[in-house]
Amino acid sequence: MKNLIVYGSKYGSSRKYAEKLSELTGIYLADYKEVTDLKAYDNVIYLGGIYAGKVRGLKKTAKKLRNDARLIVVTVSLGNPNLDDKLKEDVRTQNKKLIKKPLLEKIKFFHLVGSMDYPNLKGFDKKIIKFVFKMFLKKDPQNQKIIDVYNGKVDELDYSSLDKIVSYLEEKEIIK
Ligand SMILES: Cc1cc2nc3c(=O)[nH]c(=O)nc-3n(C[C@H](O)[C@H](O)[C@H](O)COP(=O)(O)O)c2cc1C
Repeated sequence: MKNLIVYGSKYGSSRKYAEKLSELTGIYLADYKEVTDLKAYDNVIYLGGIYAGKVRGLKKTAKKLRNDARLIVVTVSLGNPNLDDKLKEDVRTQNKKLIKKPLLEKIKFFHLVGSMDYPNLKGFDKKIIKFVFKMFLKKDPQNQKIIDVYNGKVDELDYSSLDKIVSYLEEKEIIK
């Protein structure tokens, strides 16, 4: 079986998770911007940051896969969908729309928590985040996570959360 890890990362969280997963599994990795032909791959593990609900680079990458390939989507976000069933459902529903139908038969999702270095966000990103966070704080002025992000870097990268992905790859005999 031919396997590949592909990542879509603007600020580095998904790339770091992808690099660690590659180390743990021995599967090669590539930036989604650099892959051209993915037709040779039976299993593709896609890790990408969530931007306004959508996984960066997922749509472009899914298009390049064979219809019978297995796609494993690993989302990386500030919010934690594992702690909120409604959020998890919304993230999956929205991102399934970016993927061609035949791939949805075998699709598997995992959700990891990323990081945000608010002071160093690029111009337009910072404006959007400022606006969104203002809305959140209006609803809940004590939202500690948002206050922490405002005050500096929030880095919640947890490499042990990759273990469940490795176990899944073993269970499906994608790796030995
Ligand atoms: C413009 C912008 C929009 C974002 N939208 C969301 C979002 O909808 N949901 C969420 O949980 N996190 C959101 N985030 C946070 C990112 O998902 C988080 O920083 C992630 O770690 C980025 O991954 P990357 O560093 O691999 O690009 C957003 C961040 C930015 C800058």
